[in-house]
Amino acid sequence: MSTVARIGVLTGGGDCPGLNAVIRAVVRKGVERHGHAIVGFRNGYRGVLEGSVMELTPENARGILHRGGTILGTSKINPFRVDGGMELLRENLDAYRIDGLIAIGGEGTLGAAAKLSSEGVNVVGVPKTIDNDLASTDYTFGFDTAVQVATDAIDRLHTTAESHNRVMVLEVMGRNAGWIGLYSGLAGGADVILIPEHPFDIDEVCDHIRHRHGEGHLFSIVVVSEGAVPREGTLEVPVYDRDEYGWPKLGGISNLITAEIEQRTGFETRVTILGHVQRGGSPTAFDRVLATRFGLAAIDLAAAGRWGRMVALRGTEIVDCPLDDAVAEIKLVPEKLYEVAEVFFG
Ligand code: F6P
Repeated sequence: MSTVARIGVLTGGGDCPGLNAVIRAVVRKGVERHGHAIVGFRNGYRGVLEGSVMELTPENARGILHRGGTILGTSKINPFRVDGGMELLRENLDAYRIDGLIAIGGEGTLGAAAKLSSEGVNVVGVPKTIDNDLASTDYTFGFDTAVQVATDAIDRLHTTAESHNRVMVLEVMGRNAGWIGLYSGLAGGADVILIPEHPFDIDEVCDHIRHRHGEGHLFSIVVVSEGAVPREGTLEVPVYDRDEYGWPKLGGISNLITAEIEQRTGFETRVTILGHVQRGGSPTAFDRVLATRFGLAAIDLAAAGRWGRMVALRGTEIVDCPLDDAVAEIKLVPEKLYEVAEVFFG
């Protein structure tokens, strides 16, 4: 009987640039250094439930470092929300003789991984999300790429805003955390940044814009995180539909903000909603390196049998922490950092 350890890998939740870099690192080190066999599950936990697998080898994991998306595919399926999911998952892990699983994902995927771990399944987590909202790690890979895409968009909006003397509102993703909005707004020199952690007052937003105009700057850039919320009693709070997994489908609040700015200030105002462009395409060099380091650390944890852990970045070091800690709460933008951005408002 073979004594080679068989390690499963899956990517769950929304895709993000850098997933393939993690897979490549897990496979290269897992096979070439640890002598493991690596089994990829297709489409997140769906692949484990349905037994949809592909053997990953150094050969088929080549040439993917720079590619966005995930060669394994992804889904938001949570085994704990499927009837009989846990039993099916155990059966298939046994059927494919999986000794342990590396789950690459965000809040939902790692939340399920933490629960699996408490049920005795061998799991290691790797934190991914463009939103950068996972606790216990300073950064998730994918975030830097999303910020760069959003910053490029702001640069482009700047030149057209200036030519037409317009207010340009750019909406970026991030769910209930304002990391992408804050970082891209700072990097792009936004005149106002609205993030969920700091409810906004539309009157103050308009005052900033009027102040700029009063000083002779006849255009403005307003960056809005999709999860931004108006201060209580100032504007109607939008109600969002939910997707089939129960997550609110955020997006669109900037339409309301744009209309209010134009109506209240009389300045011509246009809106751009960046959407999934932020999640697509090649990862930045930073994300490729971070994802690679995470992948190597994850397979080392699996080789050492250190299950129930998540790899993380603290300062410049890759460390590991309990999966439970990572999903206990989401990491929000601290007020102190928002104050840095506020210096440049108006
Ligand atoms: O969590 C990543 C993210 O891109 C969020 O910023 C966004 O709100 C959400 O996913 C969009 O999800 P979907 O791809 O299902 O529309």
